[in-house]
Amino acid sequence: MDTKALGRLSRTDIQHRFDSFSNLKEYGNIYVPCRFEGDWSAGMEEAFRLSKKTFITGGAPDLGQKDGERNDVTEASGEEKISNLYHTPLTTADYDKQTDTVHIARIDNPLYDVFWRMIDYLEMNIDMVRIHIQRLGQCSPMHLDDHLRRHAPKWRRRWAENGLEENPLKLRRFLIMLQDWEPGHAWHFGNDEFANYKAGTAMTFDWPNVPHGTANFSFNNRYTMQITGIISEKTQWLIDNPDPNRVIEV
Ligand SMILES: [Fe+2]
Repeated sequence: MDTKALGRLSRTDIQHRFDSFSNLKEYGNIYVPCRFEGDWSAGMEEAFRLSKKTFITGGAPDLGQKDGERNDVTEASGEEKISNLYHTPLTTADYDKQTDTVHIARIDNPLYDVFWRMIDYLEMNIDMVRIHIQRLGQCSPMHLDDHLRRHAPKWRRRWAENGLEENPLKLRRFLIMLQDWEPGHAWHFGNDEFANYKAGTAMTFDWPNVPHGTANFSFNNRYTMQITGIISEKTQWLIDNPDPNRVIEV
């Protein structure tokens, strides 16, 4: 596939493999460590009530400017900007410039307790948690999360101290699907699709190398929890021993 499909976020030194005609399963880099079971509908309603619309404003690493990705969007779509989703944070991250330290806190809301039971199960040192709500017509164009570590000066020291320079995959991003999959809720990872999942399914992927994107062309909102943080030994074990039938009651 022409890497132009990834916009300018596709840097030549990124080791992603992208073959439109290969065996879709050759990647082997989508991991489903477990599935949570419980009732988090009240948390979803609360997240919807508080959600804010977001637009694509990420940066392209080789352009060295914050609006690089947006320029790609404008060029590709003919639109000034496009909205990718609505989101509600479950954490705050206050940066203290004096000490070059990020202070991360949970947003206190009892309706989110069930989400925190899922997050705690993964035993990560959390950077950020958000509920993503993608509505009809919204999309996140194909991209690499690699720009995460290049446009986040406030995280740089924390990440370096946790070994990310040597192994970027010590930082992980998990997605927890908050509903059963339905047609029109589209996920693309590399040359594979991710579908047919049950509510509560947790997944992660090889973020520096796997281009991915999403779209919603269903009439129902799509709810996901995105968890970003530094992994522990337990998290690594879950990734190394994935099992969609490992059911965790929350
Ligand atoms: Fe992403």
